[in-house]
Amino acid sequence: MADAPLALLAELTHRCPLRCPYCSNPVELTRASAELAAAEWAQVFQEAAGLGCLQVHLSGGEPTVRRDIVEIVASARAAGLYTNLITAGVLLDAALMARLVEAGLDHVQLSVQDAEEAGAERIGGLKGAQARKRVAAALVKQAGLPLTLNAVVHRQNLHNLAHLIEIALEWGAFRLEVAHVQYYGWALANRAALLPTRAQLDEATGIVDAARIAHRGRLVIDYVVPDYHAARPKACMGGWGRRFLGVSPAGNILPCHAAESITGMVFPNMRQTSLAEAWAESPAFNAFRGTEWMPKPCQGCDHAERDWGGCRCQAFALTGQAANTDPACALSPHHGLLAEALAQAGETVFRYREFS
Ligand code: SF4
Ligand code: FES
Repeated sequence: MADAPLALLAELTHRCPLRCPYCSNPVELTRASAELAAAEWAQVFQEAAGLGCLQVHLSGGEPTVRRDIVEIVASARAAGLYTNLITAGVLLDAALMARLVEAGLDHVQLSVQDAEEAGAERIGGLKGAQARKRVAAALVKQAGLPLTLNAVVHRQNLHNLAHLIEIALEWGAFRLEVAHVQYYGWALANRAALLPTRAQLDEATGIVDAARIAHRGRLVIDYVVPDYHAARPKACMGGWGRRFLGVSPAGNILPCHAAESITGMVFPNMRQTSLAEAWAESPAFNAFRGTEWMPKPCQGCDHAERDWGGCRCQAFALTGQAANTDPACALSPHHGLLAEALAQAGETVFRYREFS
């Protein structure tokens, strides 16, 4: 059996008050009526802990739209998991924060869409969002919890990256994750508006490098680069079925948070299959595990156990076959698709998705 996953991503809901154009949730969203109940999440947490998970990331959508979020946090803590809430922060108030802390919440990751108010509201599609996020950050700090800021960066906010780093310092974050958009799910529909230029990417990398030195000991900066400008792909998920374990709002057990974008794949559900069985034996988890499934040019390549052939979701989104070499690799016969996408980038208007 593959090594146990260390963390569980629990996607409690797809509902969200924001409408970010790079949302990585599936294009077909799960309705509230199909979401797992709190008692089912408690079972997921017990099973994840039994499998060896040490922490749970409570995510969405927006996890705080769930009225039972406090009960869910308490059950994660009761299972012995370190609990991290990944939130847009716009629904957090002092009363909810106090109840979450009492339930055993350990850490908060707060998303920011831009440094400037107008940009943040345009990108997230929600008026007043930035002011509410500032309040949420203060509540997290007052509660004595560690705060991480998540900034997804792209063509239309990269000019504010230095300012985003200042905001992380000002709001009291100890960690900032600067992640370039990854293009599957809804982000693919907005790719022409989001893809950065090579010059933007290089400038951003320089800003992150300098800030890491300037703020050493005060702010840790994680940096996820876009692979449209790369010659080799990222080791997505650390390799399929090697480290990542996720559960979707409807209870599907996933080897990647975007795995349901690969149409035709069937995923085990926690209502019929235990997490341990899904992890060890399900066809979905074993489909791209290791290196035997790899086609040429990955088969025999000396990067095969470094990048695991790249990203299955990106291979599917761009070539229609999840088992193909990720086109982000210069050795892929489909690598030219990335240059074509870059040549077509420059759109300024976002396509927003409505959750009705
Ligand atoms: Fe990675 Fe496959 Fe490209 Fe080799 S050929 S670098 S294994 S994606
Ligand atoms: Fe699913 Fe990369 S996002 S494998």
